[in-house]
Amino acid sequence: DGIPCVYGVTELLNNEDIIKEHLKTDVEFLHPKQKLFSSEIIVKSFKSRPTHYRKGATSKDNKRRLTIDEIAKEDERIIRDFSEKKLSSKYGEMLGARKKLPAWTLRNDILNFIQQSQVVVISGETGCGKSTQVPQFILDDWISNYNQKHLEIVCTQPRRISAIGVAERVANERLENAGSTVGYQIRLESKVSSRTRLTFCTTGILLRRLESEPTLPNVTHIIVDEVHERSDESDFLLLILKDLLPLRSDLKVILMSATLNAVLFSEYFGDIPVINIPGRTFPVEQYYLEDILEATGYILEDGSEYCRKMKNDSEYIDAVMAGNELTVIKPRDNIRDENLTVQQMMARYEDFSPKTCKTLFLMDSDKINNDLIETILMWIVNGSHDYPKSGTILVFLPGIGEITSLYDQLVVHEEFGRRRRKYIVLPLHSSLTSEEQAAIFSKPKNGERKIVISTNLAETSVTIDDCVFVIDSGKMKEKHFDSNRNMESLETVWVTQANGLQRKGRAGRVMPGVCIHLYTRHRFMNHFLPQPIPEIHRIPLEQLVLNIKVLPGLCERDVNEVLGSFIEPPIPENITSAIGRLQSVGAIDKADNLTPLGHHLASLPVDVRIGKLMLYGAMFGCVDAALTIAACLSHKNPFVSPFGKRDEAHKKKMTFSAHFSDHITVLIAYKKFLEMCKKSPAAARNFANENYLSHRALFTIADIKYQFLELLVDIGFVSVDLSRNKRRTGKDLVQDITGSEFNANGENFRLLSSILCAALYPNIVKVLTPSKTYIQSAVGAVPKQNEAKDIKFATPKEMVFMHPSSVNYTINSFPSAYLVYQEKVRTSKILHL
Ligand code: CDP
Repeated sequence: DGIPCVYGVTELLNNEDIIKEHLKTDVEFLHPKQKLFSSEIIVKSFKSRPTHYRKGATSKDNKRRLTIDEIAKEDERIIRDFSEKKLSSKYGEMLGARKKLPAWTLRNDILNFIQQSQVVVISGETGCGKSTQVPQFILDDWISNYNQKHLEIVCTQPRRISAIGVAERVANERLENAGSTVGYQIRLESKVSSRTRLTFCTTGILLRRLESEPTLPNVTHIIVDEVHERSDESDFLLLILKDLLPLRSDLKVILMSATLNAVLFSEYFGDIPVINIPGRTFPVEQYYLEDILEATGYILEDGSEYCRKMKNDSEYIDAVMAGNELTVIKPRDNIRDENLTVQQMMARYEDFSPKTCKTLFLMDSDKINNDLIETILMWIVNGSHDYPKSGTILVFLPGIGEITSLYDQLVVHEEFGRRRRKYIVLPLHSSLTSEEQAAIFSKPKNGERKIVISTNLAETSVTIDDCVFVIDSGKMKEKHFDSNRNMESLETVWVTQANGLQRKGRAGRVMPGVCIHLYTRHRFMNHFLPQPIPEIHRIPLEQLVLNIKVLPGLCERDVNEVLGSFIEPPIPENITSAIGRLQSVGAIDKADNLTPLGHHLASLPVDVRIGKLMLYGAMFGCVDAALTIAACLSHKNPFVSPFGKRDEAHKKKMTFSAHFSDHITVLIAYKKFLEMCKKSPAAARNFANENYLSHRALFTIADIKYQFLELLVDIGFVSVDLSRNKRRTGKDLVQDITGSEFNANGENFRLLSSILCAALYPNIVKVLTPSKTYIQSAVGAVPKQNEAKDIKFATPKEMVFMHPSSVNYTINSFPSAYLVYQEKVRTSKILHL
């Protein structure tokens, strides 16, 4: 067995005094505008329910409070206006298009089912018109048969981008702008008015509304869209709705799902009716990796002996055909595997054997081979095949980092680049602005052909109508529990068979299509899971426990019992450990009651440790640094350590090193990278390459950081103007909050390390120099200095070493006896006692 090493380490010195000193300086700077955070006020707002939620610059809601009579008048006006609109030819055109959607044929059945049953499930292929049409069926029916009853439909969407997209589309179909009868509400942005009768919102928004309106007295219909995605929020909402139904016999609940698992939802609500909207798709031809390599003749140009040898070898084809997989190694982006010889490969991968070719690894971890994708794109547009030379090409990649990287490569490409004006390359992910999203749906001008590079957003949430080719990288991002870090993390994982099929289906909506999977048939058949695992079984449950604790009605019940009534309940051990972690973070007290900190953490949909770091960063005036570190913790360290170049990479990293801290080192490197971004994209890229920093990871960190900032603004801990018009990806992404009052202590690294300590506690070790061995202290008793030696020999398991990647690895003596660490990993280092 290897021994545990700690990773991501910051030295701690006199932190208690520093915190005290800053706490004394006055609450003024903790929240300059509103003086909210003296402990007295926190407790007060906590007791009287969440008033602080409204303190942020969150709502542009112009909904006036109306009397019942006024509402009735408004209802009549809506109906009158709509009756006029219906007569226009433009409306007729829109209606014509709507009538072509498969959902339209079942319009009456759907309405009848909804009338007869309090809850129904509607399932149908993605793109059949569930999201855009079903809410309108209800709205139109109300208008046609108006009987002075009020109507308020709320339709939840799993993502912000779909809430806005669908609302705008539906408003458009009714010749309106969003914010009139059809509106949307997402974090930090809402377009609703007193006329709004149909609101598309994110699931989180409805959950939050339930905190102040537990029975949603004015809502008549709740539509939960995309229930098949099984996000923890949507599972939670179903549980709440199940409890709510008997209290609100007049409330209608409609669950909408892609074709998967509709029965599961029906059973959960006591065998409620399921309506299936029949699909309409064309056949899609599939190419797996081995097929496409053969079709394109792609040469693995990596200088690796193995690949070249195998490529020219019939053994290679045989091996592939026998269902084995091959290695794709790419030099440019993936420095780690550069120029590997057979010997190095054998040393690196246990299961590598050039003779039998029984290797089962390819494009592993988070690596995506952009050159291969580029070759496939060339084959699609110019290749010798009989497939159409028009129609949108959709590329599925795991996340924003990978999308940005391919995008950057394509826009300067001689065939696909902007200069030729033959193609229009569009990124599609959840943090696009409305304008960018509109480009996805619009028809390109001048006969340009669209290449959309998307996350799994285009799998079920967004439908691109004229898509004919799909390139499926086989990768997606998924939330997981990382036991090394003891926190939630977003990991790049292989998709499941269900995802692969869904991606394939995207190619056959208007005519027969082609789907190219960047994994072998063998992997698909033998290694992919059939279905995604529901989020609630993958993620730590802290957030859910906190959400239960803030919801009236649920907060009095036993957490175990509430979680036990989920559609597929989590295992009890996970609940117990979540409660333990919440106690150690200080979010709940010993009696399991929510603390003020817990109350704020409940409104931040991030891992509680990250949340704590963000809140403290805002409170102590070092929000920018805290958010950068929080983003790194939740994504990954941007420093790379290429095989064979570890020493060089480490030396470069050491040039940024400061304050005996890996976190501050990353922070300094990130800031330098941002400076380079301001100069030019090329300067930034060179800087990243020269310093062994992953360009892609830095961009992703920038994006996550922005999202975290939005969360803090939303709950009123920071007030800056976050206009949606600012681009959220790329170099101009990061809001410059460094100069603001929320960052008055931005350069105070001692304060920053104190905050890190508070956030990562109990990950503390005590230094037992000079042997570079450390002992965990916070989880057990702190050993006295002179006892340490004995303990080291008595219980070697408690000892940890510094991970070689840490900037502190070569340090022999620290100013302080304590270090805080982010991660404990087992390495191959052997302990010699
Ligand atoms: O919900 P479901 O996946 O069944 O379909 P939908 O989202 O209602 O989409 C129905 C049609 O509207 C598709 O052809 C979409 O491409 C189109 N649509 C659109 O053009 N713009 C949007 N923002 C949303 C949908």
